[in-house]
Amino acid sequence: MLKTAVTEMLGIEHPIVQGGMMHVGRAELASAVSNAGGLGILTALTQPTPEDLTKEIARCREMTDKPFGVNITLLPTINPVPYDEYAQAAIEGGIKVIETAGRSPEQFMPAFKAAGIKVIHKCTSVRHALKAEKIGCDMVSIDGFECAGHPGEDDIPGLVLIPCAANVLKIPMIASGGFGDGRGLAAALALGADGINMGTRFVATKEAPVHENVKQRMVEASELDTALIFRTLRNTARVFKNSIADKVVEIEAQPGQTDFKDLQPLVAGVKGREVLDKGDLEYGIWTAGMVVGLIKDIPTCEELLKTIVADAQEIIAARLAGMVG
Ligand SMILES: Cc1cc2nc3c(=O)[nH]c(=O)nc-3n(C[C@H](O)[C@H](O)[C@H](O)COP(=O)(O)O)c2cc1C
Repeated sequence: MLKTAVTEMLGIEHPIVQGGMMHVGRAELASAVSNAGGLGILTALTQPTPEDLTKEIARCREMTDKPFGVNITLLPTINPVPYDEYAQAAIEGGIKVIETAGRSPEQFMPAFKAAGIKVIHKCTSVRHALKAEKIGCDMVSIDGFECAGHPGEDDIPGLVLIPCAANVLKIPMIASGGFGDGRGLAAALALGADGINMGTRFVATKEAPVHENVKQRMVEASELDTALIFRTLRNTARVFKNSIADKVVEIEAQPGQTDFKDLQPLVAGVKGREVLDKGDLEYGIWTAGMVVGLIKDIPTCEELLKTIVADAQEIIAARLAGMVG
């Protein structure tokens, strides 16, 4: 057992959270992570409507009696998203932990607090973490530059970002980005975090509702197999380095301002979803972080969490303790 501010506040066994993941964060995965003693999270926007989120929460509850959360990602979208209704669906569904990301959750805080919800705001800088603390978030999850998805524009890796945040934050902190094994968990705790958040590593698990080809490709990949797209638009995303990502980077490298219209047909979300569903790895953009270089197997969530925690304990209690004195 590793007891931290995260396990205590969230009422979970292990200080390991599964971050929100578009198309992946469904009941199958979230319930498996929660059943394994971590915190599983459903991704609200993976559900086409707030009513579908209500149904997904009910479905997840049938699959686990442990706590699980909902991620609400507040990012600019082509079509307007009824965020208030998604938030309301989570509140009415009895959810007690919400992970927010993308921008400040300030507008939702009164409703979340009134419902007794613990809010974990996921962000990519110390200044945004401090803002989250100020507006009453209960915890922050801080994504270093290694992370899958949106690492922000500051490019500070976790090894510096996490202790910088630990220096100034009073609320518990979850380290995110690049974590995939017990060494990472022990390191995160040593850097001042109270737990870890993982995305990519959970995609390559038996329960992740993702095509086998994707999982297998992650096992084969090295740490060099990600690319940064949308840098020129200041909306950087770390994705798996396939031919589509290369093409996007090539277009962005051309002189002058990038026109999103030139990228749109390549990066359409529906195509990315097809990759995950059908397993044609070159059909669209799919999200992955540098930690793919550490993924060598496709375990169940139970096996994964057990191994991570046992290895972290061994490192802390034996390897590191043995170096002292
Ligand atoms: C396939 C995939 C989809 C993701 N989609 C979202 C999302 O919709 N919202 C969000 O806040 N984070 C999203 N993320 C980021 C994760 O929640 C997490 O912050 C990140 O993966 C941590 O870095 P790691 O992949 O190195 O563990 C996604 C990550 C992956 C791998």
